[in-house]
Amino acid sequence: MIKNLLLSLLFVISGLPLFAGEGMWLPLLLSQLNEKEMQSMGMKMTAEDIYSINKSSLKDAIVHFGGGCTGEIISSTGLLLTNHHCGYSQIQSHSSLENNYVENGFWSKNRNEELSNPGLTATFIISMAEVTNDIMKGISENMTLAEKQSTIDKNIESIKKSYPRQPYQDIMVKAFYKGNQYYLFVTETYKDVRLVAAPPSSIGNFGVDSDNWVWPRHTCDFSLFRIYADENNHPAEYSPNNVPFKPRHFLPISLDGIKENDFTMIFGFPGRTNEYLPSESIRQITDLSDPAKVAIRTRALDIMHKYMQTDESTKIKYVTKAARISNGWKKWQGEMEGLKKTKAIEKKQKFEAEYNRLLKSNPALQAKYGGVLEELNHNTIEANKYVKISEYSVELLRVNIEILRNYSRLDAIVRVFENNGAAEAAKKIDELKAWAPGYFKDYVRAIDEDIFADLFKMYYHDIDTAYHFPRLDMLAPDQPGYTEKVKMLFDGSPLASQTQMDYFINQSTENVIKAIQNDGLYLFYKEMLDQYRAKVSPKVSHFEKLTEEGMEKYMAAQMAVFKDKRFYPDANSTLRITYGKVNGYSPRDAVKYEFQTWLDGVMEKYIPGNYEYDLPQKLIDLYQKKDFGPYAENGRIPVCFIASNHTTGGNSGSPAIDAYGNLIGLNFDRTWEGTMSDYNYDASICRNIMVDIRYVLFILDKYGDCKHLVDEMKLVHPRSAKKPKKAGK
Ligand code: ARG
Ligand code: GLU
Repeated sequence: MIKNLLLSLLFVISGLPLFAGEGMWLPLLLSQLNEKEMQSMGMKMTAEDIYSINKSSLKDAIVHFGGGCTGEIISSTGLLLTNHHCGYSQIQSHSSLENNYVENGFWSKNRNEELSNPGLTATFIISMAEVTNDIMKGISENMTLAEKQSTIDKNIESIKKSYPRQPYQDIMVKAFYKGNQYYLFVTETYKDVRLVAAPPSSIGNFGVDSDNWVWPRHTCDFSLFRIYADENNHPAEYSPNNVPFKPRHFLPISLDGIKENDFTMIFGFPGRTNEYLPSESIRQITDLSDPAKVAIRTRALDIMHKYMQTDESTKIKYVTKAARISNGWKKWQGEMEGLKKTKAIEKKQKFEAEYNRLLKSNPALQAKYGGVLEELNHNTIEANKYVKISEYSVELLRVNIEILRNYSRLDAIVRVFENNGAAEAAKKIDELKAWAPGYFKDYVRAIDEDIFADLFKMYYHDIDTAYHFPRLDMLAPDQPGYTEKVKMLFDGSPLASQTQMDYFINQSTENVIKAIQNDGLYLFYKEMLDQYRAKVSPKVSHFEKLTEEGMEKYMAAQMAVFKDKRFYPDANSTLRITYGKVNGYSPRDAVKYEFQTWLDGVMEKYIPGNYEYDLPQKLIDLYQKKDFGPYAENGRIPVCFIASNHTTGGNSGSPAIDAYGNLIGLNFDRTWEGTMSDYNYDASICRNIMVDIRYVLFILDKYGDCKHLVDEMKLVHPRSAKKPKKAGK
């Protein structure tokens, strides 16, 4: 008690936040920077329990799953838990009309039924070390950015070769603090990762797009895999002779649930954040880039949804496509709102004023960093001219119009033909042939044509005429007859239907190339792409480079000016720890959210036959019979909960861990108002969303009849245990 009081006092004096939620911390530096605070918030472990290179620790149970998500090991037999949306492409790849695992779920009854997934990996971090001095060797102040980068690359290559490792390990080096520090990671990547279980989408993705980024949430976003290893427990390609991986550590699972203000931590691989940007960069995001992307995607999604509502088969084809576009669309709206609501620009401006005041009072720092911030802000204002055209180009060429997105395939064939000759091009054509049926199976030309017409009308009106191009002018989007002209373009495209593709592709390689080069839509695509490459992307990269250079200095300057402040590096897909407390929040006046949802809430949202809120009968039956096994709390099944952990994309599938090191939940989302935490974490409204682990176990055991899998895990009761069991093997 006294200790906590003193600690609080210390935080007040040192300006550290009292109930920090902010920060994605390096496991290596916990004892130095975070251990005391974590313990003051209720953690019963030491930094060494979380990250150690001398003994097994929590980090030995955490993997980078498929390079983009996080997973955790939850049994001595290599069971790996992650999100449903992280395992989705694997679940889908094993699905067919007869065995539709997306629709019905997948529950292996024994290890022979587990399904292998070529290309899927799970990477452990064995150790990490700071290597800034090695990487910066030979760097001098007056080098150009390119010279500097090439020296750094050479140093990275050489340390990768010389650093001690086992034959089955890899070395990875990454930049931190905008290139001011470098860390090296020794990793082990397992390549035989098999699908073990997944709930039906109606449970694992309950609420689909309407509930995405939203609290209160009722989704059981999990899937279960198992890592297999060779007979030495080392990584190996898939083989029927491989055996279940034996981890150095796995997470015990707490059945005791959570209470308000409980300590929680999230351990995982957050992808990208940008917390140290100057005010003008935030303004660029809220005023220019987010609004541009949102406006375009609003049109595209409106059209998709219009078609999806009228036709069941269209709905099936477009659910995943719409979800892909909608995820960012929704996140950016929340981001703009959150940045405005928390007055992020003013906050940054105040910070900048204080920074400037301190900088000016220190001649040495002023000499080194004076003007850096001003230049950054100035460059951002200059770059603003290109934001809209750049976002529009990317959204139209690469995201929302399926047919244009896939013209890159035809373009690649032409380039291979020109550079490598007909034989190589023929191979590319065969690839296209093989790819086409899958594409057309889910392609609805009418939708794409409508989106194309609408978005180019937008482009024509919203974008400066300097970026109009002849073939767009020829379409004349503001004139009668525009839609007919668009229709004609589609009529001539091999990517508009399988019949057109067949007609186009079944001829000599030379003739295929000629046909591509005469296709009006290809020429349209090329013209737009060429102009983008000539007029837009050089500007964008120019300013990106300036920002990169400036941010490296500004980051160093911030750390030098605020010497006593704890700085955490921006997310960069490396292993991080973030911690906070289980807590509700108030999104707006008079509205207060509780921290936990229940199965009753799932039933409240249930709409029979609806593609977002339908439920399998078996779940309804279990609910009505109250057949909850040991997973209920006071007769109810807990479903999801929120806490003030600072997370981002990549933290999907990360474990939520209690004060003792037990698994209590599975991270999968953030709340809408809080998605701006990528730029401006604010403990008042930033919450991460987790599935309560008891809901996962209930679904696995009672719905999926996979008691045999639950039996492989270690279930614990830390609250009721007299002496908390040490998390362990
Ligand atoms: N918003 C979460 C993330 O960014 C979940 C996305 C998957 N779920 C969905 N309904 N689209 O990945
Ligand atoms: N769903 C996100 C992911 O796939 C996590 C949510 C977030 O961005 O915080 O990583």
